[in-house]
Amino acid sequence: MRNFVFQNKTKIIFGRDTEEKVGKEIKRLGKQKVLFHYGGGSIKRFGLYDKVVKHLKQEGIEFVELGGVKPNPSLRLVKEGINLCEKEKVDFILAVGGGSVIDSSKAIAAGVPYEGDVWDFYDNKAQIKEALPLGVILTLPAAGSEASDSSVITNEERKLKRGTGSPLIRPTFSILNPEITFTLPPYQTAAGITDMMAHIMERYFTQERNVDLTDHMCEAVLKTIIKNAPLVLENPEDYNARAEIMWAGTLAHNGLLDTGRLGDWGTHMIEHELSALYDLTHGAGLAIIFPAWIRYVYKAYPEKMLRFFHNVFDVEAVFDDPHYMIEEGLKRLKNFYRSIGMPVSLKDAGIKDNRFEEMAEKCTVFGPVSNFVKLEKSDVVEIYKLAAE
Ligand code: NZQ
Ligand code: ZN
Repeated sequence: MRNFVFQNKTKIIFGRDTEEKVGKEIKRLGKQKVLFHYGGGSIKRFGLYDKVVKHLKQEGIEFVELGGVKPNPSLRLVKEGINLCEKEKVDFILAVGGGSVIDSSKAIAAGVPYEGDVWDFYDNKAQIKEALPLGVILTLPAAGSEASDSSVITNEERKLKRGTGSPLIRPTFSILNPEITFTLPPYQTAAGITDMMAHIMERYFTQERNVDLTDHMCEAVLKTIIKNAPLVLENPEDYNARAEIMWAGTLAHNGLLDTGRLGDWGTHMIEHELSALYDLTHGAGLAIIFPAWIRYVYKAYPEKMLRFFHNVFDVEAVFDDPHYMIEEGLKRLKNFYRSIGMPVSLKDAGIKDNRFEEMAEKCTVFGPVSNFVKLEKSDVVEIYKLAAE
């Protein structure tokens, strides 16, 4: 096991009606002026917007608002948010939404005290040294951004989707009420489930030996998701199943499951080029890329893949026939994705052109990706090819 430091400052406030605490939480932090940041309108349609306004006003908290965050959040709106915060002297950001709203809020939080262009953080040109604090009301369990230290933004002009990270942009608090997720359409629910599973798999597939505790924890969270996924799709108002999924999404990405190990993240890097180019939902892109990535890299440490398919997907243990176990495991993984309505190939997602070279070039612009096996541009092209059909 590697040496590690684990610190996660995000206070999680979980359960029914917890959004009512938002005003008190911000007041407790002594903040004067809030930017209330949200997406395309679901919070207005389902009544959360009015509740937030009520609870902010009840505590006498002044706020300005900026809606309109789109999935794959745009740099343009981030810059608008930074200008608004400067003009209005905002000292706290409240993100009400899914990963896109939270990531946009994090970018604004880092951009306000920074003299240069906020894209510098995403282009590896600068490190975040300071940020406004932010809080979250989560409406979609998926990205894990509610307790992660990262933010992913799309530069729509350059067709680039890039991430940055710093403990300074980890939310101060995150409010998680599973009831708020009852209104999620099946496709968003499923894409969220795929994303949180991918966050665990990226950590699970490591070359690090002697990480038994976190291996078992990863397997437990994955099994919980796989068990509860059909329940939430069958009955969107199943509180207990929604609660299991919501908490799993946070644990998948709050840093606990990769303590003592080096995660992979190749699949995410390869996927980000897909969602940047085709504006594909991130979770759907991961369902397409993960099976192809496994097929391409498994020989580097087959025991790990066999353990995964045996412990998580109950593939019969025939350890002297790894080929059988991998094929059977991939079949079960893809069947699971299909069963929740995810595409498992580029063709399924309606992507017929093959701009593989172009995507692989952008994906490896800072060097090889993946830690399980280092993947160069030519490897990434092969993975896109495997994902085609
Ligand atoms: O915009 P509104 O109208 O609110 O609708 C949203 C949006 O269209 C809708 N939605 C959210 N909550 C809802 C709801 N509809 C009904 N009821 C609710 N309760 O869902 C749609 C998708 O929302 P979005 O925030 O885009 O989804 P998600 O949470 O999956 O976030 C995806 C983004 O997060 C990034 C992804 O790359 C992608 O850009 N990621 C961020 C990470 C991080 N910061 O740590 C890690 C992840 O790997 C990921 O890359
Ligand atoms: Zn993800």
